[in-house]
Amino acid sequence: MGILSKFQVYMPERKGLLSGALFMSAMSSLMGILPFIFIWLIVRELFKSQIESSQAVISVYAWWALGTALGGVLLYFLALTLSHLAAFRVETNMRRQAMQKIMQFPLGFFENNTSGRIRKIIDDNASVTHSFLAHQMPDLAGSILMPLVSLVLLFVFDWRLGLACLVPIAAALGIMSFMMGSQGRYFMKKYMNALEDMNTEAVEYVRGIPVVKVFQQTVFSFKNFHDSIIKYRDMVYKYTLMWERPMSLYVVIIHGFVYLLVPVSILLIGNGEDTSIILLDLIFYILITPVFGQSIMKNMYMNQAVGLAAEAVRRVEKLTDVEPLVVSDDPQSITSHEIVFKNVSFSYPGSDTKAVDSITFTVPQGKTFALVGASGGGKTTIARLVPRFWDVDTGQVSIGGVDVKHIAPKELMRHISFVFQNTKLFKTSLLDNIRYGNAHASNEAMECALEWAQCREILDKLPRGLDTVIGAEGTYLSGGEQQRIALARAILKDAPIIVLDEATAFSDPENEHLIQQALKKLTQGKTVLMIAHRLSSVVDVDSILVIDKGEIVEQGNHHELLEQQGLYADMWKEFQKSVQWTVGKEAHNA
Ligand SMILES: Nc1ncnc2c1ncn2[C@@H]1O[C@H](COP(=O)(O)OP(=O)(O)OP(=O)(O)O)[C@@H](O)[C@H]1O
Ligand SMILES: [Mg+2]
Repeated sequence: MGILSKFQVYMPERKGLLSGALFMSAMSSLMGILPFIFIWLIVRELFKSQIESSQAVISVYAWWALGTALGGVLLYFLALTLSHLAAFRVETNMRRQAMQKIMQFPLGFFENNTSGRIRKIIDDNASVTHSFLAHQMPDLAGSILMPLVSLVLLFVFDWRLGLACLVPIAAALGIMSFMMGSQGRYFMKKYMNALEDMNTEAVEYVRGIPVVKVFQQTVFSFKNFHDSIIKYRDMVYKYTLMWERPMSLYVVIIHGFVYLLVPVSILLIGNGEDTSIILLDLIFYILITPVFGQSIMKNMYMNQAVGLAAEAVRRVEKLTDVEPLVVSDDPQSITSHEIVFKNVSFSYPGSDTKAVDSITFTVPQGKTFALVGASGGGKTTIARLVPRFWDVDTGQVSIGGVDVKHIAPKELMRHISFVFQNTKLFKTSLLDNIRYGNAHASNEAMECALEWAQCREILDKLPRGLDTVIGAEGTYLSGGEQQRIALARAILKDAPIIVLDEATAFSDPENEHLIQQALKKLTQGKTVLMIAHRLSSVVDVDSILVIDKGEIVEQGNHHELLEQQGLYADMWKEFQKSVQWTVGKEAHNA
């Protein structure tokens, strides 16, 4: 029943729907038993053998039987209507509430959960919940009530015959609950795991196809997928075999209740009881016992369905069980744009190593600072702490003297433009994509941003220009082109603070040169924190922070750092070599 209160959370203003549906379905189940009783009453009349006088009575019973049967169907229909109303409401609210919560999560949440995954979890589980509520919920009351009512009926007419029916049913149920009990649960868990493994391997296999083709491997990549299928097959095979005997026994017993009922009746008649009464009761028990057995089966299936629905709700709740971004009650506005990191440490949720450890530095307003260092050092993490992708564990990040936690999120976003490694463009027109930067920008500003971000050449290639829809009709842009569009968006936004993660690899030097020019325009007169993957970008910046294993190991401008002969000087030597190598190669090619 706990599950119902979980659903009520998603329909606070219509709590009555669910209880209404349950009540109707309970009534419908009770009505469903009545025809059996009336039929039995008809049989009893027939036994009395005074045909003439009982004809009238029989037809009354027959009408009642028909009426209650129809009434049962009608009530069930009403229950279904109510439950469908409840289902649609719960499903809609579940999606809405999940989305509302997600909107308040820190941006970092979306780094770890792709939009595809978020959508799948919410969609799948909301529909499981819907179909449970709409189609199975109406049977819930019946599945609890029916076994109880038929159990009572079993003993009302003749407790000895009742007992004769109950013994085989209890035995069958014993077998069933033993199977579904601890052993069943153990296997069910293994079964679910094997299923999940197989699905994961299938996805991996499909995702790996390009790599497999490039490296001309066929057999090996298939091995994991194949193994998981075999594992699944063995699992299911074993599980099925495990059920073979108990299930056969169950079916034989549940349908064979008559075997015990008949001898007991004969025994009772032999003991001198009234033959006609015993026969009459026997007929009743033959009528009612299958109803009892079925209702118990229904109850078991219902338990399973309730379990699945509860799991669906739990999965959505788990996804959305994230601390929302704390919004200050008393937000302060910022008047200057100096960025200060004071003793900042941070580790990603679920990780015990610090991605960023005791970082302290200040980017004065209007200056450009660069972060460089080995991959995985923590550069992106540091940059993400400024627009509050995550909140620091200890220490403080502030802008213009105000802790970023005390700046209203909208205000913070208004002051910062960021372009990260994994630029996200929306599946709409290029125009809309760029306008996200500033919906009210004038046409001139738009033109200027396109010019500065070197987007002209991209647009000239596309027949529909700015109206081209990304992703539609196979219009995909290269990584460098996407980053230029993102830069145009950032330029249009014209925020005073810029956080920039330079793209790691551009396919061609031409593209790289264009991006460098765009960056120069973007960062003019702004306070900039940029991550540089090519050291050529940092020669002119005001200060370079060398990041290694989450810490600042060196700091200074290009010349100062070269003089220190430390990590940066080594990196610079390596960089020089690679440039010479490239130049040499190009000269060779020419
Ligand atoms: N979303 C995340 N969840 C958990 N751990 C993360 C996440 N992003 C990064 N990390 C971890 O934090 C550490 C720092 O990563 P970060 O991305 O900041 O490095 P980086 O210096 O930007 O590297 P690169 O030059 O390759 O971009 C790494 O150990 C990485 O595995
Ligand atoms: Mg990075």
